[in-house]
Amino acid sequence: MADLSINFAGIKSPNPFWLASAPPTNSGYQIMKAFDAGWGGAVWKTLGVPVINVSSRYGGMNYRDTRISGFNNIELITDRPLADNLREIEEVKKYFPNHAVIASLMVESRKEWEQIIKDVENAGADGIELNFGCPHGMCERGMGSAVGQEPTVLKTIVEWVMAAANIPVITKLSPNITHIESPGLAAVEGGTNALSLINTIKSIIGIDLDTYAPYPVVDGKGSNGGYCGPAVKPIALNMLRQLGQHPQIAGTPISGIGGIETWRDVVEFILLGATSVQVCTAAMHYGFGIVREMDNGLRRFMDERGYKTIYDFAGLALPNVVEWKELNLKHKVVASINKDKCIGCQLCYIACDDTAHQAISISGDQTNRIPSIIEENCVGCNLCSLVCPVENCITMEKRDDGKQHLTWEELTNTDRIPVTFNDERAGGRGHYVPEVADALKHRKN
Ligand SMILES: Cc1cc2nc3c(=O)[nH]c(=O)nc-3n(C[C@H](O)[C@H](O)[C@H](O)COP(=O)(O)O)c2cc1C
Ligand code: SF4
Ligand code: SF4
Repeated sequence: MADLSINFAGIKSPNPFWLASAPPTNSGYQIMKAFDAGWGGAVWKTLGVPVINVSSRYGGMNYRDTRISGFNNIELITDRPLADNLREIEEVKKYFPNHAVIASLMVESRKEWEQIIKDVENAGADGIELNFGCPHGMCERGMGSAVGQEPTVLKTIVEWVMAAANIPVITKLSPNITHIESPGLAAVEGGTNALSLINTIKSIIGIDLDTYAPYPVVDGKGSNGGYCGPAVKPIALNMLRQLGQHPQIAGTPISGIGGIETWRDVVEFILLGATSVQVCTAAMHYGFGIVREMDNGLRRFMDERGYKTIYDFAGLALPNVVEWKELNLKHKVVASINKDKCIGCQLCYIACDDTAHQAISISGDQTNRIPSIIEENCVGCNLCSLVCPVENCITMEKRDDGKQHLTWEELTNTDRIPVTFNDERAGGRGHYVPEVADALKHRKN
């Protein structure tokens, strides 16, 4: 049977499911409830000099019927006095000595860092997470993403912290930067024990059409906030793999954060190298109970594949993430429609004819609305299968014999790439393109 327990840079936890530093970890009451529900760890809502928050402070990005496909906030760090939080950390550790309680910290001066580290250590925290991510409010005061965007400053603060800390330190990175490797490397050079990412992405979630102010509206005005939730997962996954593939960063434990909601998300983050995961938005949306689905799903996945611990499959996807130039140009797939599943909506035809490669035909006869693929025109772009509303109705079928392998890199090395604007070696030369005037063929007067 799968053993989900982890030892993350010295922080022990019964499973890799941690709550991220955010409203769900604002108090001992919430963290105790979460541990009782099955979470293995929690990163306490960032501690520092308590703030004053605005009202309201959250915005949701609803997509069609899906509420909160993205989430935005202009909340700051904890607004509660440090002494209250420390007392509650101590209390939680008494009830749950084997669960991971990590104190997220954000202060300014070296003296403040040294003091607050001592305080949370005395309270019994298992680890520290440095919040270098908050992209609103705190950065205006020289903290949060203001540090996360300045690798030199970040490294200096990590060095201060490492000199003072006796418990493991996780440096949480901001995604609001072009090259995530720069702050990642700075943190590693500063001596951090581990990394975590992503914090929220600087964003404006929408504009209120009555007040013309950005959401969430605060007395007629708004501010940029931090974006998170399911919509940011692809960005988080890419940043995770960028760190995991960096020769000097690989080997440093990484806690994956960003849009995690289901066991599948958890597995994907682990496959790209994360050895603990943190969740905020999904817990805010559905409550602490979501951890049961994560736990069951992860166990089933591991049992089916014969993995005993998460370390058996952590990072296994990393070697498959390569540069574009290393992809096989000879691999060829084409779309195929399962006529038994097709409901005749013709969304695939519209997508392909308007915006792809005119590789789907329709009869025009309302008694037969099932489209056909014109194989010789199909470039295998995938669009039709993505727009098709019926699961597995359009599949991509392999058409190459698997024997040929040719990459852009190989073409470049052997001088076989197009180099002039009208080069005969252009990749699209063989593709079907309709006559320009055909666009008006079916015009209705
Ligand atoms: C309302 C709100 C408050 C947050 N506060 C903090 C915080 O105090 N410290 C911190 O490090 N991250 C904070 N975060 C960021 C989360 O910890 C997490 O990095 C981010 O939300 C991405 O994860 P998710 O997609 O699961 O929400 C906050 C996020 C939200 C939505
Ligand atoms: S895969 Fe692309 S080109 Fe081929 S039929 Fe679908 S949309 Fe058209
Ligand atoms: S989108 Fe799918 S269901 Fe609709 S016509 Fe095309 S193949 Fe059929």
